Amino acid sequence: MGAMLGPVSAWEDRGVERSGTLPSDWYTSQELHDLEQRTLFREVWQCVGRVEQVAEPGQFFTCEVATEQVVVARGRDGELRAMSNVCLHRGGPVAMGCGTRKAFQCPYHGWMFELDGRVRRTQGMEGTLDFDPASMRLPQFHVGTWGPTVWVALEPTAPLDEWLAGITPRLACYPLDELRFVGGRRWEIDCNWKLYVDNYMEGYHIPFVHPGLNQSLSPSVYTYELGRYSNEQYAAEPHPRGPGSRVAGILGGTQEFRELKPPLPGLDEAQQSGYYFTWVYPLTTVNFTPDGILMFTVRPLAPERTESRFMWWLPEATSFKDSLLQAALVNFGHLVNTEDYEICAHAQRGMRSQVYRQGRYAAKQEMCLHHFHQLLAAQMRPHLEAWDAERATPSPLPNGNGHGSHPRSVVPR
Ligand code: FES
Ligand SMILES: [Fe+2]
Repeated sequence: MGAMLGPVSAWEDRGVERSGTLPSDWYTSQELHDLEQRTLFREVWQCVGRVEQVAEPGQFFTCEVATEQVVVARGRDGELRAMSNVCLHRGGPVAMGCGTRKAFQCPYHGWMFELDGRVRRTQGMEGTLDFDPASMRLPQFHVGTWGPTVWVALEPTAPLDEWLAGITPRLACYPLDELRFVGGRRWEIDCNWKLYVDNYMEGYHIPFVHPGLNQSLSPSVYTYELGRYSNEQYAAEPHPRGPGSRVAGILGGTQEFRELKPPLPGLDEAQQSGYYFTWVYPLTTVNFTPDGILMFTVRPLAPERTESRFMWWLPEATSFKDSLLQAALVNFGHLVNTEDYEICAHAQRGMRSQVYRQGRYAAKQEMCLHHFHQLLAAQMRPHLEAWDAERATPSPLPNGNGHGSHPRSVVPR
């Protein structure tokens, strides 16, 4: 076994050509999962929902970020806010699900909150001293929007526009006013969130895991670009200027998809003839396709359980043929994801092995994977070292009697 760093093995970065992949205990450790929740996921930006869900004053939705319950709401003043969704009385939910409200009411004992988090009413608290509801407010978090999406961070280490700078130029050509949210879907996958993200970071597996997708992409044009908080893979469709690609098996297997469904007007040449698979560190992916935008958001549920949600934005279908083609696209996405989830669950079982510890990167195809591990390791290092330091500090023993750990009585006298 290699050296330990906090709750997991140390990972030494010696470049993509020489490094081993992340040690397997990074994918199974309950302690690391808890540490990530307390540190990493508080410091990063995450996509939590759609702008259209909170377009009007009074609209809100709830979500979970790291260990925090969060409500995102548009105030009467038009301001978008992200606030703690934990009632200041005894922890009940301030809001549930999504919808439109003039104010929030906790369903536990009925405290009421304004849309901006100030306390409106605390009936039944008569006789409680040193209690000033007028000065109380739900803790506020950082919130911002990007294209059609809403992002939240608890204690971000950089502003949102900096976080998304690497992918924002890709958005510029898309006719956002004409794109509609046409559907989403939620999966739970039996693997660690990092293993699922790893899988997104390379096209190496496409010929083996996705025979259908493989027919839609050109293996000769597959490029990578690494940014500060994001990276990008570009895959061309096989006949970029010609009759278009075939989405295998969906339209009878013989129809040329691009002939039936030309790319969105306004996209640049590369966007019209291929796919940008972009990833925003650490939990979001945005696929810029010739047809529209497909996003995935990832949420770690447990060390070996991960939620993946996907959201498609496409132009409004104007004919039955259009609707069919869009349904084919969305279903094709489901198929590709199902293929990914199955292989991820298998690889997760591999992470529990006592005889496998770490692998190697394909130097010319897995640089995005290595990039992800670099970003992650750099961010986790101080937290893992703090963990080490904490555990190395001996617990104080009183002079020589050897009974240092008597708990103090907490029973009230
Ligand atoms: S917990 Fe919300 S009112 Fe009691
Ligand atoms: Fe895949």
